[in-house]
Amino acid sequence: MSSFIIRDAQVVNDGSTFPADVLVRHGRIERVAPEGIGSERNARDFDAKGRHLLPGAIDDQVHFREPGLTHKDDIAHGSAAAAAGGITSFMEMPNTDPQTLTQELLARKYALGAASSVVNYSFYMGVANDNMAEVLRTDPKTVCGLKAFLGSSTGNMLVDDPVTLDRLFREAHMLIAVHAEDEHTIRMNMHRAVERWGEDIPVEQHPIIRSHEACYRSSSHAVALAKEHGTRLHVLHISTAQELELFTPGPLEGKHITAEACVHHLWFTDADYAAKGTAIKWNPAVKTVEDRDAIRRAVNDGRIDVVATDHAPHTVDEKSRPYAKCPSGGPLVQHALVAMLEMMHEGIFTLEQVVEKMCHAPSRLFAVEERGYVREGFHADLVLVDLNAPWTVMKENILYKCGWSPFEGTRFRARVLNTWVNGRLAYADGKVDRTARGERLRFAR
Ligand code: DOR
Repeated sequence: MSSFIIRDAQVVNDGSTFPADVLVRHGRIERVAPEGIGSERNARDFDAKGRHLLPGAIDDQVHFREPGLTHKDDIAHGSAAAAAGGITSFMEMPNTDPQTLTQELLARKYALGAASSVVNYSFYMGVANDNMAEVLRTDPKTVCGLKAFLGSSTGNMLVDDPVTLDRLFREAHMLIAVHAEDEHTIRMNMHRAVERWGEDIPVEQHPIIRSHEACYRSSSHAVALAKEHGTRLHVLHISTAQELELFTPGPLEGKHITAEACVHHLWFTDADYAAKGTAIKWNPAVKTVEDRDAIRRAVNDGRIDVVATDHAPHTVDEKSRPYAKCPSGGPLVQHALVAMLEMMHEGIFTLEQVVEKMCHAPSRLFAVEERGYVREGFHADLVLVDLNAPWTVMKENILYKCGWSPFEGTRFRARVLNTWVNGRLAYADGKVDRTARGERLRFAR
């Protein structure tokens, strides 16, 4: 594998930004040198003057739809779009077809990842009401975690049996990531909406159907169970201000209950349904401006530990259906980092905070081995960005298999220039090297 030096970059790492040259050799970061590096034999130079070098982002929640739902997305396309967006590692969800509910099916997904992923990968083991023996066989050193849907979403993967849940929280000695929305509350609200609007439910009703109460009930139940049993719980995509009281501010070290926010809940509000319609229909729903602002504050004070995407593509046709038949979710991996950097430009987050929440913290939270930092000895998963090279998201520059984005028409000031995965240039000059292959993530647990 080649050696190269990224020269004169502004390196963003560990809470500070400083000028340095970075030498990469055999896929690893060999030197981070603020004093500069002389010429090295056989090492190519990348001029990074005026640009910022970040660790590659680690996205702990994506849906790449493989196997079985590949009309929406697949690992090859999803991971290529991730590389273009500066995401060098992903953790993928089990609501595929078939769902990832046995060790054998999980192993098959890892084989798919090895065959086609441009970036580094891990796949969650799925929990159902009846697969506990399989769940408990999951290896925490090679699998990112278990995933339980406590409210149903795409794929109807609901874990609603209280005995199963109790056993899961008691006996699983690894991270459990949950989708927390109370199914009973949602069904009641949906029933009311159908009574009132019949087939023509306006999309603005989505946060009223998938309500604040539905989120709080389910998240607080999961947190209570985790406290009772000492479970390592990670609550995904927090969407309400009220839920934030369930989490502790400060660094994630020492916490056994952590929380994730997604870029769409940090960006959009219910005022956007009028213009964006079902393109921003997600589960949990995008809610009020007060909720969004509270989640932003929680990113800054540590009640939210990591920021991810919940990249969950559906086809244009599927998203064009009327509310009740339109699936929730949208593609995000290509635009998440630049959206966060836009919020940095707006003064909502600092650059160092974006890197902490998208790169460093996911690495520590999951104990990912040797990734997530610009650190000597670590894998060279790196992203070079120009913070001031504005561009607009348009159909022509979207890499998603589904061909659309909730950000279409949005102008971002920051641009991803280069993405290296394990020291290999996987994205440059607007093009993904689709022959690049990532590695399976390993966990120091
Ligand atoms: O909006 C969502 N879509 N939320 C989820 O949790 C699942 C996802 C999907 O798989 O479509």
